[in-house]
Amino acid sequence: MKTGWVEKKIKELSSIGGYQKPELQQDSLKLDSNENYVISKQFQSDIISGAKKNSDVREYPLGGVERLIQTISKFIKIPISMIGVGNGSDQILDLILSNFATKQTKVLTSNPTFGFFEERCKLYSIPMIALPFSHDMKLDIKEFTKQSKNADILYLDSPNNPTGFQFSKNDLQKLVKSFDGLVIIDEAYGDFSNYSLASMVKSQKNLVVVQTVSKSFGLAGLRLGYFIANKQFTEIFNTVLQYPYPLSTLTIESGILAFEKSQQMKDSIQIIKQERSRMIENLKKYNTFEVFDSEANFVLFDAHGSYSRVYTALSEQGISIRKLGKIGNHEGCLRVTIGTKEMNSRFLLAIRDLLR
Ligand SMILES: Cc1ncc(COP(=O)(O)O)c(C=O)c1O
Repeated sequence: MKTGWVEKKIKELSSIGGYQKPELQQDSLKLDSNENYVISKQFQSDIISGAKKNSDVREYPLGGVERLIQTISKFIKIPISMIGVGNGSDQILDLILSNFATKQTKVLTSNPTFGFFEERCKLYSIPMIALPFSHDMKLDIKEFTKQSKNADILYLDSPNNPTGFQFSKNDLQKLVKSFDGLVIIDEAYGDFSNYSLASMVKSQKNLVVVQTVSKSFGLAGLRLGYFIANKQFTEIFNTVLQYPYPLSTLTIESGILAFEKSQQMKDSIQIIKQERSRMIENLKKYNTFEVFDSEANFVLFDAHGSYSRVYTALSEQGISIRKLGKIGNHEGCLRVTIGTKEMNSRFLLAIRDLLR
């Protein structure tokens, strides 16, 4: 064995940088990670205490994932043979990338795209083509379709994080049909938008739709993601790529109960959508900001040269949002999650005071 190779590998990996998590601020109003605080704390207390009753963690969760998939299948009305699960959708994306892509596989996505996905491509040295958003934070479908001719894998987070943009359903369906490589549609924020591409998987063999309970169900800490794909892909994923026990017993049991109580998630979505309109309307009142429309549970705005000042001032008042900085020729982008009415009002009041 040659000496020094471990050091060399560590140096190489450290140059990649990795995914940047938001700063941890104790007791802050957390509007930085697109979590759902509208769904009641009782919802999670109920499912976690139910999960505890149904669990025996002395045992491996044999058969647990299968029961969870049955429950998901009822919820999304897709056959069990077309569903797989993962330790967060992050892990699903990671397993797809690390097993389907090589250094020669070209991935087409948008710029910006989901940060974790981008970092994973860097980690595996997978070449990425990233089509920039236009000045009004939209993606040109014609250009994206044209660029897809040079790609093997398409990845779109739909709606996109951090812009909140989503192609029209018709445009996205046409794009998927026109492409013969693998298409990954990440619907982490799909429940906040007006459509899902999940049922298209039945007719489109190259399509994988990824969803999660982290956002709409308010269960980010559970680490439970799932995907919908054709039978062959799903079988290979579940039997060859995925770990034998990817989810803890408590995650499986909590997940089953969460899907059974999905009405609470749906009710919270209605409130979040209303609040999203209120936040956009209010932020637009200030000429200082350029505010972008959103189909997700967050809003992106450009605070131009004052973005650092806005971010720091909010942070000093215990309000944590996401500082993104330059996106295209927008120099000062900030992303705020839609929280409860009270949280959003506190954020808007702080902004009002700041700009007075
Ligand atoms: C577009 C997108 N996909 C996936 C994820 C990760 O979801 P999970 O918590 O299921 O790993 C996120 C989380 O921020 C996201 O923004």
